This record gives sequence, structure tokens and C-alpha cells, in this order.
Amino acid sequence: MSTHSPSYVPKSAGAKWLESRLPIIGLVHSSFVVFPVPRNLNYMWTFGAILMIMLVLQIVTGIVLAMHYTANAELAFSSVEHIMRNVEYGWLMRYLHANGASFFFIAVYIHMFRGLYYGSYKAPREVLWILGVIILLLMMATAFMGYVLPWGQMSYWGATVITNLFSVIPVVGDTIVSFLWGGYSVGNPTLNRFFSLHYLLPFMIFGVVLLHVWALHVPGNNNPAGIDVKTKKDTVPFHPYMTVKDTFSAMLFIIVLSWFVFYMPNYLGHADNYVPANPSVTPSHIVPEWYFLPFYAILRAIPNALLGVIAMFASIAVLAFLPWLDTSRVRSGSYRPLFKMFFWLFAIVCIGLGYLGAMPAEGAYVIWARILTALYFAHFLVFLPLLGLLEKPKALPNSIAESVLKKSGSGMPQGAAAKPQDA
Ligand code: HEM
Repeated sequence: MSTHSPSYVPKSAGAKWLESRLPIIGLVHSSFVVFPVPRNLNYMWTFGAILMIMLVLQIVTGIVLAMHYTANAELAFSSVEHIMRNVEYGWLMRYLHANGASFFFIAVYIHMFRGLYYGSYKAPREVLWILGVIILLLMMATAFMGYVLPWGQMSYWGATVITNLFSVIPVVGDTIVSFLWGGYSVGNPTLNRFFSLHYLLPFMIFGVVLLHVWALHVPGNNNPAGIDVKTKKDTVPFHPYMTVKDTFSAMLFIIVLSWFVFYMPNYLGHADNYVPANPSVTPSHIVPEWYFLPFYAILRAIPNALLGVIAMFASIAVLAFLPWLDTSRVRSGSYRPLFKMFFWLFAIVCIGLGYLGAMPAEGAYVIWARILTALYFAHFLVFLPLLGLLEKPKALPNSIAESVLKKSGSGMPQGAAAKPQDA
């Protein structure tokens, strides 16, 4: 890939000394300063940066919370109340961390749907996409275990329901569940191992994110037109174009997060989690956090427990095969009229499943959950493979520069619109 300015040349003696031993400034310079990005990227491409910021926010607030939290079944609930009432700005750390988890998932779902629409999972970005699916799984495990830590009613019963899912595995199921629990029910050993893993996994996510960004920097970004970069005119340098745009977008995102943190901090939570865990009282309605609801709906849609668990895991695993299930040669949904309709149908199916996951598993809700589950899998296993073969895509632009300058430079000579980047 071409770069916009010569590679990094250290000026001071100290920088030269470091660069000849560990060329880290040069690496940052080539990856985040002069790195060429397609000039037509829209705001959907700012969510990767937002996710990075959210990951750091979760780690920093989490570390502060861990300084005051006690991972013991007798003390966990009151240690969280202690954080809320006695620790300086403890309430802020906790509300940022809890709402931050929800906003992390909002950002990751937008980031994934962007990829789904613009075909960012297609060659040569398959490994980048699969690393993303691994990050998603790690995020889900981390969020699930984090929710258990306050040791409220929903923590306890959510942990009981989800860990019990493994008992449906033939022969070894019960052994696996006892192993997860560290006993014969969810209890103190469970809380301890969940705390340990909840602290560990974000650092593993950090490691996989580094691989994810590395895998991105090999082929470079996809873009709304879904065509490859051909000339220097198709790109702009990462700094200042993306640094400014990412910062602006991240600030808007943080303003919305702050609105929740300061004005409605418990809106996304469940009141039952302010009741201490009680193994002898089952809440009338056990629901997971909103970001798990579509998968929970799939789990409950299937009448057979084992098949339900398989379907739930398969609904995430199928994402990893997407690069090979989508047979279209055209990447971007903008040039695929039929795909576009199916994409929006899929988005509605996911929202519908989310709604059904929050409803009791009875009557018409179950029937609808079955229909939407069938549509969810059909999207990947039937519609996408067939669409690529049957659909007639629209003509693609000749170049990225052409696709942008046509829109923005009407009546303007092309050279004039291209000036800022050429300078
Ligand atoms: C902690 C979570 C994640 C972080 C920090 C992260 C970070 C990033 C960053 C910085 C970029 C480049 C900027 C951008 O395109 O927005 C990117 C691109 C990408 N990510 Fe992620 N990501 C995360 C999760 C995911 C997940 C869960 C998936 C999919 C399952 C995914 C799939 C992709 C793809 C396909 C691209 C390339 C987009 C393109 O160039 O069109 N990422 N990611």
C-alpha cells in the first residue's frame, strides 16, 4: 500500500537511539499517522476507535472497582453498596462500568452490522472478521461473569440458568456443571472463579484486538463502495482525517453514555439485582441483560433443551463461516439491491428476537421466536449463498475517488475536490 509521506525519520538523538533498538515510534507513525485510508469512509467507520476507547474505559473503571470489591458470597453485595455509598466517586466508577458494558455492546453491534452491510468480511479480510467473532465471544463471557459479581438475585439466578445449560451435554454434562460451579450449586467458589476470569478476559480481549488491528492493516480498510484502493487519489492519510473524525464521533458517543450514567443509571439494569442473592427464592421472570436477549430467544425457541443450546451457540458460530457463505463477488450492499432488502429483514429479525427474549416463553411468543430463529439461520445458510448467484448487482464505480468526487464535486473540476489530500 502506498503511504502519504516518507516513513518516520527520528530527529533527536534520543529518538534515534530508541528507533535503532525498538522501532516503536516508526510503527505508530506508519500505522496511525501516514496510514492511507479510503477517502470515502463514512461515520460507520468510527466505531472501531470508539470500541478501543470503551475497552480502555472498562479496564480502567474495572480496576478501580476491584480495589474495593470483595469476591465472597457473604460480602459481595454489601461491598458493592459500600462502593456506591462510601468510596469517593465509587458510584461514578460503578455506573460508568455497568452502563459502559451496555454501550460497548451497542458499539460492537453497530460495528458488526456495518461489516455485514458493506461486506467487510469478504476476501481478503476473512481473518480480521474471524478475530472479531472471537472478540465477540470473549466479550459475552466477560459480560456474563461481570453481571454475577454484585451477587444480586438476577446475578445468582442468571448464573444458575446459564451454567445449567451445560448439563444438557450427553454423558459429561453434569460433571462440567459441577466443575464450573466448584460445588453442587452456584456459590462462593463460583463467585471467586468468575471474578478471577472477569478480571483476566478483558486483557485477552486486548490481545485479540491487537491481532484484529494488525489483520486490518495488511489489506487496509474496506470502504462504502467496497472496491479496492487503486491510486493515491483514492486515499487520505489517517492523521488528521480519521483522528479528527474518530475523536468527534467518540465525543458524541461519550455524551450519550454520560446521559445514561448521570440521569438514568439504572435504566438498562434490572431492579431485582438490588435484592441480595437468595438461593431459596426464584425471581418470577429471569431475564439476561438486553444484549443477550436475541440469543436467549433462540435458546428458548427450540423445544428440545440440547438442540436449543446447540442453536444458541450455532447462531454465533455461523458468523465465522460468513466469508464463505456469502457467494457474491460484489462486497458493498450499496450495489446489491436484493441483498439490501434481505439485510434489513435480518436487522428486523434480530430486533424481533431481542424483544421475544424479554417476553415469557409461552403462546404466540414461542411461535414467533421459532419463525424468527428459522429466518435468522436462513439468512446465512440459504439467502446469502443464493443471492450471490441470482442477484444482478449495480455497476460499480471505476474508483473510490470517482465515487466520492461525483457526489461532492458537482460542477467542480475533479482536481479541485482532490486538492486537500494531494497537498
Ligand atoms: C473490542 C472489540 C473491537 C474492537 C476494539 C475493534 C476494533 C476495530 C478497529 C479499530 C477497526 C478499524 C476501524 C473501523 O473499521 O471501525 C476495526 C475494523 C473491523 N472490525 Fe473490529 N473491533 C472489535 C470487534 C469486532 C467484532 C466483534 C467484529 C465482527 C465480528 C469486528 C469486525 C471488524 C471488521 C470486518 C473490520 C474491517 C472493517 C472495514 O475496514 O470495513 N470487529 N475493528
